[in-house]
Amino acid sequence: VFEHVQQAPEDPILGVTVAFNKDPSPLKVNLGVGAYRTEEGKPLVLDVVRKAEQQLVADRSRNKEYQPITGIAQFNKLSAKLILGANSPAIAENRVATVQVLSGTGALRVGAEFISRHYAKPIVFLPNPTWGNHNKIFPLGGVPQKPYRYYDPNTRGLDYQGMIEDLKAAPDGAVILLHACAHNPTGVDPTEEQWEGIRKVIRSKQQLPFFDCAYQGFASGSLDKDAYAVRTFVADGGECFIAQSYAKNMGLYGERVGALSVVCKSAPVASRVDSQLKMVIRPMYSSPPAHGAAIAATILADGRLFQEWTVELKAMADRIISMRHQLYDALKARGTPGDWTHVLKQIGMFTFTGLNKEQVQFMTREYHIYMTSDGRISMAGLSSRTVPHLADAIHAAVIG
Ligand code: LMR
Repeated sequence: VFEHVQQAPEDPILGVTVAFNKDPSPLKVNLGVGAYRTEEGKPLVLDVVRKAEQQLVADRSRNKEYQPITGIAQFNKLSAKLILGANSPAIAENRVATVQVLSGTGALRVGAEFISRHYAKPIVFLPNPTWGNHNKIFPLGGVPQKPYRYYDPNTRGLDYQGMIEDLKAAPDGAVILLHACAHNPTGVDPTEEQWEGIRKVIRSKQQLPFFDCAYQGFASGSLDKDAYAVRTFVADGGECFIAQSYAKNMGLYGERVGALSVVCKSAPVASRVDSQLKMVIRPMYSSPPAHGAAIAATILADGRLFQEWTVELKAMADRIISMRHQLYDALKARGTPGDWTHVLKQIGMFTFTGLNKEQVQFMTREYHIYMTSDGRISMAGLSSRTVPHLADAIHAAVIG
């Protein structure tokens, strides 16, 4: 009965790792998936995560019971505090509904299903380009999507005018997906002044901002600075959705740790929203896994561990920034044609190189460099050892 089933294509991002794993070359470098690697090219488990894990294992009072549908209450409270700030009036007024979900993807999917059931204008506008999974999550969650202009290939920066025009042209009440910081895949973020312009348009049209926050702490190295955009939107008293992931900033990728917050206008509304989020989650996966969120909650709750976390987070962010400088210098040293200042200017895990699909294929074929076909490279996957090889590959691809 399944004879008709067609072979599906590999995922555009995770499929890069599949191809990488098959390549026997010792030269191979995986710059596809956005996952942090050490200078030695190894995945990193943060010391603070190991400490929290040891505490949890040592605690014999812990059990493996089902969690509540919305996960660990303390994790939810601390996640809202992390993104909104300790003194957030929205938290003080109890008008934030936060649920533990399966990382950023789970937050987006649960949010989409809630919107499709309870929001009068279920259409979402996504930046062009955006993280490839956004395009699938929202329609499958019952929310059709349309693009808004975001990236300008000529300047390799933000198409601010185009973005504002498209937001103004979008229907009143539409959902607007915004990357809270470190836009994926472009590494191009609005300035604080531009965020203010964006906020004004969105609020004047009663649109609903939906922040995807996958990189808090990774963009600048500061948790507060990277929460700037979300906090300015929440400060104006309006509603918004926030999807938080701890995959990158705590390195909890495979543990699937995330939170979805819905900032409402009043405490009774937030309570009713919370009850309906449960109705979305229960038939989907019943309740979230306990272990990863318990690690995150342990770190967030303990002042000393929290402090240690910020130091390790900053070290990861700084290593990525140093890779930007090393790659830029290596391209300059080779005299590679083009202006490569965007390698320095872009923010977060990724550089959107401007290389086209053919150039990417050439680099994979000839240099065993694995990256997504849109020209995105994960700076977090680079090291001082691999930068010269990448620069050689880019140089050869550009000069043709
Ligand atoms: C990425 O963009 O590489 C990451 O967010 C990982 C993923 O799930 O796609």
